Amino acid sequence: MTDRTKRTARFKEPATRGARSLESNGPRTPSSRHALTSTMSAALAGVPLLRGEEAFRLLVEAVEDYAIFLLAPDGRVLTWNLGAQRIKGYSADEIIGKHFSAFYTAEERQDGRPMRLLQLAVENGRFEDEGWRVRRDGTRFWADVVVTALVDDDGVPYAFAKVTRDLTERKAAEDQERTLLAEQRARAAAEEALLARDRFLSIASHELKTPIASLQLAVDSLEHARSAGRLDEARITSGLRRIAASTTRLGALVTELLSVNRLSSGESPFHPAETDLAELAREVVARFDDAGQGDRLQLATPAQAAIVADASQLDQLLTNLIDNALKYSTPPSPVNVRIEGSTNGLHLTVSDTGIGLDAAADERLFEAFGRGDNAAFTPGMGLGLFICRQIVERHGGRVEGHRRTDGPGTVFTAWLPRSREPANG
Ligand SMILES: Nc1ncnc2c1ncn2[C@@H]1O[C@H](COP(=O)(O)OP(=O)(O)OP(=O)(O)O)[C@@H](O)[C@H]1O
Ligand SMILES: [Mg+2]
Repeated sequence: MTDRTKRTARFKEPATRGARSLESNGPRTPSSRHALTSTMSAALAGVPLLRGEEAFRLLVEAVEDYAIFLLAPDGRVLTWNLGAQRIKGYSADEIIGKHFSAFYTAEERQDGRPMRLLQLAVENGRFEDEGWRVRRDGTRFWADVVVTALVDDDGVPYAFAKVTRDLTERKAAEDQERTLLAEQRARAAAEEALLARDRFLSIASHELKTPIASLQLAVDSLEHARSAGRLDEARITSGLRRIAASTTRLGALVTELLSVNRLSSGESPFHPAETDLAELAREVVARFDDAGQGDRLQLATPAQAAIVADASQLDQLLTNLIDNALKYSTPPSPVNVRIEGSTNGLHLTVSDTGIGLDAAADERLFEAFGRGDNAAFTPGMGLGLFICRQIVERHGGRVEGHRRTDGPGTVFTAWLPRSREPANG
């Protein structure tokens, strides 16, 4: 049996020798740590009314702000002071000899917490605890408790010194402060949400106005030509083309707004499945082709690039990155789309030779409505990269943008793991 288990075993015995001898004659063989030092005894000898251990007894009894008392190893209360009476409400006569578990709530008593704390004090020398305790009248107070195990020269506890402070007022003040802070935070978040909604509505309506205005213009000019009797085939064709372009732009804007809304609220469906990113990239490029923007796109991809992903979200990722590259560069400069496989994932790179970024794309550009100074003259809502980041992160990957090092322009790269596991290179 080790020293420690021996001590614990002795400690668990009910009504030990140590407790009895403490009650009658004081500590059995107190370790020198707890005895009055000879220097102190000598100093106290000069004050006739304060001699030896008696001086400390008097001191402790008189303390009113702290409950200071001794417990026997089995948990019975051995001594009591004014502070204990004031804080806990028992007089010395009422509580001495009773078990200290009376100070705990019924649940904690059932749970064996009081004796467990004594055991922890034996194991660690001392133990500090904060929690609710019960007064004589049943009311609760928030206590800070320090229990020190007093052990004899063999390491066997002969008593426990317990010092309790009533921190109810401080706890109430802290709780109130916490509640106030939480309320303040909630208010700030609600205000921020309102501001974000206003910003969203104002930018969205501003952006929607442009295609609506050109739609209106195209309809007006067709109307005008008809009433003037000049509605020939050529006018009809060009009018319809402008109407189609504006409705496409409107549709794209609405889709983008809906995506952001769904991604931000976490309502966007996520259906990862076996997907071929190479095939997907070919489809997206074909779509840009159909819209007359494909001639600048150069696609470099293996025949197949398998990945477990949500195909419609990767479609959006490709579309947004390609849309930016085309938008922030001037025809006929090429836009390169490259897909490369690595051991555990895919790298997608979209690069252009356009207006470039200041340096690395800073975080702001990936936030909702984040737009760079470079985009002042280019229409946009600042949502594309926000959507890209949400999508890539949902797939366990990461997306970054950099200024090109080999000339003007920008490179955006997205790393996507083959299946949704924590990403790394
Ligand atoms: N290829 C690029 N070259 C230079 N700057 C870019 C490029 N892509 C993005 N940016 C910068 O990042 C900002 C954010 O891009 P993002 O795609 O989120 O928004 P947007 O293109 O302005 O509008 P939206 O995509 O919502 O129509 C842009 O406003 C621009 O400043
Ligand atoms: Mg964009």
